[in-house]
Amino acid sequence: MEKIIYVDNSATTAVSEKALTAMLPYFRENYGNPSSIHSHGQAAQRALENSRRAVASAIGAYNNEIFFTSGGTESDNWAIRGVCELKRDKGSHIISTAIEHNAVLKTLNGLQNRGFEITLLEPDKYGQITAEQLKQAIRDDTILISIMTANNVVGTILPIKDLCAAAHEKGVIFHTDAVQAVSHIPLNVRALGVDLLSMSAHKFHGPKGVGALFSKLPLTPPPYLTGGGQEKGYRSGTENISGIVGMAAAIKEGTENLSENIAKITSNRNKLIENVLKIPGAYLTGDPTNRLPGLASFVFEGIEQAAFIVNKLNEYGICASSGSACSASSKEASHVLTAMGYDESASHGILRISLSEYNTEEEIDAIISRLPLIVAEIRSKKK
Ligand SMILES: Cc1ncc(COP(=O)(O)O)c(C=O)c1O
Repeated sequence: MEKIIYVDNSATTAVSEKALTAMLPYFRENYGNPSSIHSHGQAAQRALENSRRAVASAIGAYNNEIFFTSGGTESDNWAIRGVCELKRDKGSHIISTAIEHNAVLKTLNGLQNRGFEITLLEPDKYGQITAEQLKQAIRDDTILISIMTANNVVGTILPIKDLCAAAHEKGVIFHTDAVQAVSHIPLNVRALGVDLLSMSAHKFHGPKGVGALFSKLPLTPPPYLTGGGQEKGYRSGTENISGIVGMAAAIKEGTENLSENIAKITSNRNKLIENVLKIPGAYLTGDPTNRLPGLASFVFEGIEQAAFIVNKLNEYGICASSGSACSASSKEASHVLTAMGYDESASHGILRISLSEYNTEEEIDAIISRLPLIVAEIRSKKK
């Protein structure tokens, strides 16, 4: 197979060697059900609890504040719907932002149809939301605030600690979708103060289809899936042990190597940004400084569909994306860029390059050498 240059790590990542090695025995050797009382089951039970410890410790949580789920989407759904159910008699107002992932936005849409009132805060041109803005939106009947830790399209890191403090001043529960942040930037739930936090293993070199919800005790949203009573009765269904073990191995590896990874990824990203911005009419989106180490998104004057660039890059074996993975094949403009004030054409034309520690400087050089030609070719065809 031709070697590809994979720079779509915000969409998903390769499973790390350590995570894969940790997972394999749980398919064919230690395949017991953690609910079984025989030795096979009990080995799986121990693996489950060791994994919970690893995930908790990576984000500064207690073990019994971690609930395994099927990923970021489920964690977001559970957190948001759960708090609404729990606090319905206190009020029906929820605050979020216009730049959230659809796992949050569509969930809020559904709640709106059921009588909840939603306020979506509008970001500034960098994708930032301030605590002042949030304070002004909080009402007596606000029951939940859900704001992402880092944006998946432009990479802006939001001031979660301040936003959370503003929520708590008014006694409102704070959830953050940290799917793009966990294992990418230093993150500690106690330092941030958040009540609920969503994460997903496949964004940090773990397997797909597994994630977790952190829920600060004594808060736990009501059970989302009912059945056999797994996860202390809060999330029924036989646990995805191999996936959970892989997630734990990946988060452990990611947090142990975090500073080293950030240094490498940031250096490659800076080189990429510096050179892409040499292309006339190229602009970086998102916050220039408070941004994820690996994510760089660009818009190019005169290019209204980044899909053209993505397809051309693909011909050279370079896998990037236009906007988020979920919107990459959609004809709709990126709701994130639109909210940040970009016009309709720019909102279709966003090229997202997202790096991991597996990317080499040579790969960055290959992108830098191809991209100006691709942009020029697409622009010339338009004329
Ligand atoms: C910010 C954000 N939230 C939620 C999700 C959904 O996570 P999952 O794919 O694990 O359901 C994603 C995935 O792209 C994301 O980027």
